[in-house]
Amino acid sequence: MRDKTILLTGCTSGIGKALLDDLAYSGGRVFAVSRTASSLKNSSLYSKSVRFLDCDVGSEESVRRLFSQIMSESGTLDVLLNNAALRYPDPIATASFLQWQDVLHTNLSGPLLTMKYALPIMAAQTAGLVINTVSMEGLNGTPGFSSYASAKAGLIALTKCAAREMVYYPHLVIVAWMPGNIRTPMNPDGPEEPAAAVQRFRDLCRTPDEYAFLRA
Ligand SMILES: NC(=O)c1ccc[n+]([C@@H]2O[C@H](COP(=O)([O-])OP(=O)(O)OC[C@H]3O[C@@H](n4cnc5c(N)ncnc54)[C@H](OP(=O)(O)O)[C@@H]3O)[C@@H](O)[C@H]2O)c1
Repeated sequence: MRDKTILLTGCTSGIGKALLDDLAYSGGRVFAVSRTASSLKNSSLYSKSVRFLDCDVGSEESVRRLFSQIMSESGTLDVLLNNAALRYPDPIATASFLQWQDVLHTNLSGPLLTMKYALPIMAAQTAGLVINTVSMEGLNGTPGFSSYASAKAGLIALTKCAAREMVYYPHLVIVAWMPGNIRTPMNPDGPEEPAAAVQRFRDLCRTPDEYAFLRA
């Protein structure tokens, strides 16, 4: 990442915050974005190589302003990490349509808008990397999380569309990344602690018969 210009969305918590903590020391110039990114701007953890900008990725006006700022300050963009997302419980029978739109705007329209402005820049320099953060829920569906799962399914398709549109630029790479089950504010129940998993296995497997049953 040395000397690269990197745009990271969803930098204020969870996986995005962890990525930011690494990227801040990568030698690249980082534009770190979320709706409240400027809350981090006085943190002594980050050097001048990180620029914090507030942006709602679901708003075209906000994304357009973000790119004009990036281009005026850096003149280029090498890496786009689409990480920002929302996830609310919304069983279909009681779903709020406003909340559905909010999730679709952030999780699906957001990556569309950032790619809309990033891909022409990357195409002109014939190189770039786009990583869209997807989820197993977009492949399998999740009861009670229809907007999140649907948006992630859409993002898998959108990533494939973008990669195929850019197929004539061999140095422009567009991929989807699936992080797995990580404990964050979005997923506070996360994976269980290793010790708890071991204990659960022990509880299932106390006699030779139980062990044989599990092996079978
Ligand atoms: N955690 C998991 O187990 C898991 C599994 C698979 C995939 N993922 C994916 O990994 C990514 C990160 O998830 P996470 O668990 O780290 O979530 P998180 O802790 O809730 O972080 C979400 C980030 O997105 C930002 N954000 C939300 N709406 C935004 C908007 N409209 N515009 C700009 N930024 C916005 C939030 O900041 P502000 O509130 O300041 O805007 C926050 O920084 C997501 O794409 C998620 O779908 C997570």
